[in-house]
Amino acid sequence: MKTRLTILCENSVGHHPSDIIGEHGFSCFLETDNGNYLFDTGQGFSIIQNAMALNIDLRTIDAILISHGHYDHTGGLPAVLKVKGVVDVYAHNDIFARRISSKNGVSRDIGIPYRRHYLESLGARFKLGFQMVETGPGVYLTGEIPRQSSFEKDDPNMTLITSDGQRIHPDPLLDDLSLVVETEKGLIIVLGCAHAGMINIINYVIKQLSNDHIFAIIGGTHLGFATDRQFDETLKVIDKYKIEHIGVSHCTGLEKAALLHAHLGNRFFFGSVGAVLEG
Ligand SMILES: [Fe+2]
Ligand SMILES: [Fe+2]
Repeated sequence: MKTRLTILCENSVGHHPSDIIGEHGFSCFLETDNGNYLFDTGQGFSIIQNAMALNIDLRTIDAILISHGHYDHTGGLPAVLKVKGVVDVYAHNDIFARRISSKNGVSRDIGIPYRRHYLESLGARFKLGFQMVETGPGVYLTGEIPRQSSFEKDDPNMTLITSDGQRIHPDPLLDDLSLVVETEKGLIIVLGCAHAGMINIINYVIKQLSNDHIFAIIGGTHLGFATDRQFDETLKVIDKYKIEHIGVSHCTGLEKAALLHAHLGNRFFFGSVGAVLEG
């Protein structure tokens, strides 16, 4: 299957049309021979503007896939639904949980900014689940990722509050899912924030699809928050599977992106707004 991925929302903009904008968030548009999909929606400031500037027609999407409930991935849902109308939205059951981030004594809500019934009134048909789903031919949402590596840890600044008020700390972010696309060149894995850990995600995808030919990984790696050990182990896995392209975005951070570039050379690219990957 021929595919084309375009980064639609991201922290930085590439060298593309002058009217695209950056925001802290992530969204990626996927075109395939069998349909178009939207993975995440950014916070909502840039998705419509960038789609217009990049000639992407959001009315063509067959489904929306959500990586996790954080505001910087779900905040653009109303804007997209107002363009598209009724559409299936695939995600994990926990995306509506309340999320708090506490850093340097300041706490803020970082969960999904909208209630489920509001999004449904705009056309969202939620398909929530824990398992891997094939949302279209060769297009998968991973489902919950088993946490197996000892060094890919939950973020100590994050707390989940359940609907009955219970605080779970640190937030296990079990809703962290990734998009996987089967292409002629191999698998492409698109990460939202990789809260589940990149190595856990890669291992689970290989096991579930019985395929270790990974052509590319793009999206938010969360390596900006990783220890040196986690970072080194991640590089080893990238080399072990001879992954041809790594296009980092969002929560990777410039420091880790620079280290990845130094290690990977021309296998590396910045997954900023307007970046395109064909598979
Ligand atoms: Fe994020
Ligand atoms: Fe996140």
